[in-house]
Amino acid sequence: MNPLEGRSVALGVSGSIACYKAVDLASKLVQLGARVDVMMTEAAMEFVAPLTFAAVTHRPVVESLFDPKSEISIDHVAIAERADAVVIAPATAQTIAKLALGLADDPIGATVLATAAPVIVCPAMDAHMYDNPATQMNVETLASRGFVIAGPAEGRLASGLMGKGRLIETAEMVGHLRLALGRRGSLAGRKVVVSAGGTKEDIDPVRFIGNRSTGKMGYAVAEAAIDLGAETVIVAAPNALQPPVGARVEAVRSALEMRDAVLAESSDADAVVMAAAVADWRPRERSASKLKKGGRSSFSLDLERTPDIIAEVERRGLVKVGFAAESDDVLANARKKIAPKGLDLIAANDVTAPGSGFGSDTNRVTLIDRGGNVEELGVMTKYEVGRRILDRVASLLGCPAARRDAQPPAR
Ligand SMILES: Cc1cc2nc3c(=O)[nH]c(=O)nc-3n(C[C@H](O)[C@H](O)[C@H](O)COP(=O)(O)O)c2cc1C
Repeated sequence: MNPLEGRSVALGVSGSIACYKAVDLASKLVQLGARVDVMMTEAAMEFVAPLTFAAVTHRPVVESLFDPKSEISIDHVAIAERADAVVIAPATAQTIAKLALGLADDPIGATVLATAAPVIVCPAMDAHMYDNPATQMNVETLASRGFVIAGPAEGRLASGLMGKGRLIETAEMVGHLRLALGRRGSLAGRKVVVSAGGTKEDIDPVRFIGNRSTGKMGYAVAEAAIDLGAETVIVAAPNALQPPVGARVEAVRSALEMRDAVLAESSDADAVVMAAAVADWRPRERSASKLKKGGRSSFSLDLERTPDIIAEVERRGLVKVGFAAESDDVLANARKKIAPKGLDLIAANDVTAPGSGFGSDTNRVTLIDRGGNVEELGVMTKYEVGRRILDRVASLLGCPAARRDAQPPAR
C-alpha cells in the first residue's frame, strides 16, 4: 500500500537556486505512488534541465502553455482538473506575486487558477526578498485564499547569509502534501490519539527501566491517520522519530505521564490506539541522587505496578485499540486482554518473529475484535498495518468511505 497510490500531483517549479531540491521531491512523490506532472517556468529551466524531471517522473515536462509535446497546449486546464493537489516548489518571489495577482501567462498560473485541488506553496528566496513587504503581502493574500504556505525555513541561504528563505526539506513538503490530500479521507473530522515509543521509569537521575520500543509502529499509525484526514495526536514516549506533518505531539516519559496525557486527549477523541510499549512496573521510589555501588555485591529494586492505561480510557462511543506484543502463545494471550481492557480491537504480534517487532519497518500482526473474529495480516510495512487498523476503526465509527472522487472542499 503506497500512500500516494493513484494520486495525481501537479508540481510547479519556478526559478530558484533550490530547483535541484525539487528533483528530489518529484522522485520521492513517484516512489510514494503518485503520478507527477511537472510544470517549469522559463527561469526554472535555467537551473535544471526539464529532462531531469522527465527522467524521474517518466512523464513529459510542461515547459510553456504552448508546448506542443504537452497535452496542456490542447487542453490548457487538463492538469488542473486531474490534480488531486498542486505543489509549487520552489516558489520564487516572482511566481508568488503572479499567483497573488491571478496571472495565467504560464502553465503554473493557469493551472492554479483552474484547479479545485489544494495548492501548497513552498517559498524559497533570499531572506530580504522574503521579508520585503511586497512578498509578505502576496504570501498573506495566498494564505487568505486557503493556499497552504509551507515554509520557508530558517538557515543558511545560497547567498551565504543566515536567514528565513530556505526551501523546506523534501520530507516536510511531502508531509504537507499528504496532510492536504488527507482532508477528504475516511477519518476527516475525527480525532485519533496514538501512543508511541517505550516509556522510561526513572530509578535515579541517570538510570531508568526502559524497553526496546522505537516508536515506529505508533508513528506509522499516526502517519496513516493523517493520510485518512484525522486530527492526530501522538502521545510520545522518548524516541528519535520525526512526527508526520500535521500531527500534534504530546511528549511524555513515564507510564504515569503517558496515562495522564492519554486520558486528557481521549476525552474528546473518536479513537485511541495504544501502540506504545508501556512499562508494567516502575520503581516504588525514585532516588533524587545517583545510587552508589557501595560495598554491595547485589542490589534489589522494589517495583510497583503501573496503571493499565487503555483500560482506564472510557469507551463512551470511542473506539479502543490495543497492541499485544507477545513472545509466546500470541493469540491466546492477546485474546485474554480484550474484555478486561474494554478493547474493540487488539493487534497481536509476535515480537520475536522474523519481519516483526521493535525497530523493524515491517510487522506481522493479527487483528482480533470483540466478537473474537480473527484477521491475520501477513508481513507488511508498519504503515500498512496502521492503515488496516484505521480502516477497521473507520468502519467501527460508521465513517463513510473516503470521498476521493467527490468535489473537494474549498481550499
Ligand atoms: C542565481 C540565481 C538564483 C536565484 N534564486 C532565486 C530564489 O531562490 N528565489 C527567488 O525568488 N528568485 C531567485 N532568483 C530570481 C528569479 O530567478 C527571477 O526572479 C525569475 O524571474 C523568477 O521567475 P519565475 O518565478 O517565473 O521562475 C534567482 C536568480 C538567479 C540568477
